[in-house]
Amino acid sequence: MLDFLGSLERTHLCGALRAANAGQHVVLMGWVNRRRDHGNLIFLDLRDRSGIAQIVLDKELTPDGHAKGEQVRPEYVVAVVGKVRLRAPEAINPKMETGEIEIEAAELRVLNDTRLAPFSPSEDAIQNEEVRLKYRYVDLRRAEMQRIFRLRHEITLAIRESLSKQGFLEVETPILTKSTPEGARDFLVPSRIHAGEFYALPQSPQIFKQILMISGFDRYFQIARCFRDEDLRADRQLEFTQIDLEMSFPRREHVFAVVEEFMAAAFAAAGVTLPIPFPRMTYDEAMRQFGTDKPDLRLPGLTDVRAAFNDEAIATLQIDPALPVVALRIPNVGELSRKEREENHPLFDQKKGAKFIDDFKRLAKSFPAAAAAVRAMAGAAEGDFVVVVAGDPAHHIKASDTKFSGRLSEREINVYSAAGSFRTELAKKYADRHGAFRITDQAVQDAAQRSSDGMIDGGVAFHPMWIVDFPMFEYDLATAAWVPAHHPFTAPYEADMANLTADPASVRADCYDLAMNGLELGSGSIRIHRKDVQQQIFSSLGISDDEARKRFGFFLDALEYGTPPHGGIALGLDRIVMLLTGAPSLREVIAFPKTAKAIDLMADAPTTVTEEQLKELHIRVALRS
Ligand code: AMO
Repeated sequence: MLDFLGSLERTHLCGALRAANAGQHVVLMGWVNRRRDHGNLIFLDLRDRSGIAQIVLDKELTPDGHAKGEQVRPEYVVAVVGKVRLRAPEAINPKMETGEIEIEAAELRVLNDTRLAPFSPSEDAIQNEEVRLKYRYVDLRRAEMQRIFRLRHEITLAIRESLSKQGFLEVETPILTKSTPEGARDFLVPSRIHAGEFYALPQSPQIFKQILMISGFDRYFQIARCFRDEDLRADRQLEFTQIDLEMSFPRREHVFAVVEEFMAAAFAAAGVTLPIPFPRMTYDEAMRQFGTDKPDLRLPGLTDVRAAFNDEAIATLQIDPALPVVALRIPNVGELSRKEREENHPLFDQKKGAKFIDDFKRLAKSFPAAAAAVRAMAGAAEGDFVVVVAGDPAHHIKASDTKFSGRLSEREINVYSAAGSFRTELAKKYADRHGAFRITDQAVQDAAQRSSDGMIDGGVAFHPMWIVDFPMFEYDLATAAWVPAHHPFTAPYEADMANLTADPASVRADCYDLAMNGLELGSGSIRIHRKDVQQQIFSSLGISDDEARKRFGFFLDALEYGTPPHGGIALGLDRIVMLLTGAPSLREVIAFPKTAKAIDLMADAPTTVTEEQLKELHIRVALRS
C-alpha cells in the first residue's frame, strides 16, 4: 500500500549529513539502496543523487515505520522523517561519507514501489551493456554514472565560462538545415509542406559559424549537437556534441591560445592540471614518429632503424630499400611465444603494402648485428617487445609515390601508418603489462588525493598535441584525383597557393588537429574568406560551379558581402569527458546513446511509422528489412 506525500517537504540530501547535523530533525527522500532486517531493527540505506544515509527503523520507536520497512524492497521510493544521531563508535563506517551518523526514523512513507529491474544500481560493474542501455533509467542511478554526468556538467560549465570570459558569444544555429560539408552521410528530414524536399541535420555548424563571422559577431561559440550517419565505434556516435567556435581576424596562434585556455579550465574542473601551451608537431613528423596523426605519447614512438640493415640484410629479408624501416617498442611485454606472436598477426594491417619482423631470435641468427642494433636504437630494455616494420616489395600496392616538395609520399605514409596502427593495437592488447594506459578515473582520483593542492599533474596522464601543416589534398586511387583532406572551406597556406594545380601534394592546409592519448579531440582551420580562392579550391577539387552553387550557393553569396579573414575549430565534448572519466566508450558519457548498431534500445528507435504519417510526408517505403 503506497503512501501519499502529503505536506512533507524534503529538508536535506542524504549524502550531505555529517556528525555536525546530529540532533537535527530531517526529512529525506530517495531510493532504498539496500535493506537489512535485524528483527526489531531494520536498516535502510537511503540513496539520492548526493549519496547514501543509513536509516534505522526501530520497532519500539516506530512500529508503523518498522512494519512498512518489512515490506519495502530495493529501489522503492520512500520518505523518512527522523532525527540525525551519532552512531555508536563500533558502528562507524569510515568508507561512507555519512558513516558517522544514522537517522533514527520516526516515520516512513512509501512513495512508490518498483518492478524488479534486471540489475541493481547498487552493483558496481554490470557486464551486459544491452541490458544497461535498455533500462538506462536504472543504469543512470548508479553512483558511477551520476558522477560521470556531474563531471560532464562541470566540464561543460567551465568551458562555457572560459569562452564567455574570452569574449565569445554563444549563438544557436539551425538543426533543420541544408547539407553541411563534413564528408559523412546526412540525416535527412522530409518536409511535409514541400513535397519531395528534405532538410538535412547539421554534421556541424560549419557554414553557419562562418556566416556569423561575415555578420560581424567576431567571436562565436556553441556547445553544438551534430549528426552524422556513419558507422559507429567506441569514439563515434550518430549524434554527438562539439565545442564549436569561430573567430575573426585570427592567426592559428590565437585559436590555439583560446583552446588551451578553455581546455585547462575544463581539465581543472576535473581536478587535473593540464600544462599549457600544448606541444606541436607537423603532420609529417607525427607520421614519422608515431605512424598516425593522433599520436598517443604515453608509449614510445617509432624509431627509424633503416641504418641497422645493410644491403645484404635488405635483400635477404626482402625489404623495400626505398621505403622507411621503423621499429616499434611496447615496454614490459615479456618474451612472447611463437603462438602468441602469431595470434598478434591479424592486428597488422595487410593492405598497406608493408611487412613486419617480430621474430628477433630468428633475425639474430641470420643478422645478429642488425638485431642488436635495432633493439639498441629503439632503446629496448629486456622484456620490451620490438617489431620492425618495412615496405614489402612483393606487395606493391597501387599508390602514388610521387614525392612533392619534400613531403612524405603516400607509400611512405602507408608504411608508417601500418607500423603506427600495429603499435596502437599491440599497446591496447598488452595494456596490463606496460601499464601506460592506466588513466582510469580511479587513478585520477587517487593522484588528486595524493597531491597537496588536490590537482593532479595532467602531464603524466594526458598528452595533448597540436598537429599542424596537414597536406591540403589526398590522392584518391579510386577516382585518380586529388580530394580535399578536410572540408573545402579550409584555406591553403598563402605561400603554397601558386602550386594548387602544378603540385597539389605539396600544398599545406592552414589547418590543425588537437590530439590527446591517441584520440582526435578537435579539428579546425583558417578558412578561405575570398570568393575567388574558394572557387579555385572548388575547381581544383573537381567541384563544378553548378554543383558548388547547388550545395553551398547561399554561402558563396554570403562570401561576397564583406567577409573578414576568419578561422576556428571544433572539439568533441564527449571525447573530452570520455578521457577525463577513463571511460572505455562514448556510450558511458552520453546519457542516452545509440548502440554500435545505431539503435536506441531504451526508446526503441528507429521504428516504422504509420501509413498516414508517410502519406503526409509524401513518402512511400519501397523496401523493408
Ligand atoms: P570534425 O569533423 O573533425 O571537424 O569534428 C570535430 C571533432 O568532433 C568530434 N567528432 C565526433 N565525436 C563523436 N562522434 C562522432 N561521430 C564525431 N565526429 C567528430 C571529434 C572531432 O575532432 N566543422 C569542423 C570543425 C572546424 O573546422 O571548425 C568539424 O566538424 O572530436
